[in-house]
Amino acid sequence: MSLKTFLVLIVLTFVGAGVYFTQSQNIDLTNLVPVTLKQYEQCIASYPPAHSCMQSKEFQEYLQAFFEITMSGRSSDDCNQVIRIINKGNPDAYINENNSFYNCYVNDYIRKFANTNECFFKLFYAPNYLICGGFDIYAYPPYTSFNINN
Ligand SMILES: *[C@@H]1O[C@H](CO)[C@@H](O)[C@H](O)[C@H]1NC(C)=O
Repeated sequence: MSLKTFLVLIVLTFVGAGVYFTQSQNIDLTNLVPVTLKQYEQCIASYPPAHSCMQSKEFQEYLQAFFEITMSGRSSDDCNQVIRIINKGNPDAYINENNSFYNCYVNDYIRKFANTNECFFKLFYAPNYLICGGFDIYAYPPYTSFNINN
């Protein structure tokens, strides 16, 4: 199974777990990075290109550690809030409501972690979380020493 399939399955699992429209839309006017769930899902569906480096044991270990931090029973309240937004499946909801997407996936700690493996950063983390999440700035220098365009 390719990583892309794997990612899509994760998203489908979340979306499939609870597709319904919420009665009262919760629009956060203070949201500085207004990426909607619909835009986010369309964006990650177009990423990332498969690459042989993703087959490496090291990459798989990074992936596992990343999911352990962001999507396990031990994840932070912010991560759980993002998962709730995805589970609700409202296409117009902002993925960064209450800054939870940033706090879960873009915080200093996790960016530092992602920046210690080129394959993980360039092919998984930066496209799926920084670019698609609306935090593009962190995908480029000086926030990273990697060049995601090559
Ligand atoms: C965002 O914060 C408000 C106020 O604390 C809360 O009512 C709302 O449920 C939060 N959003 C999500 C998606 O949890």
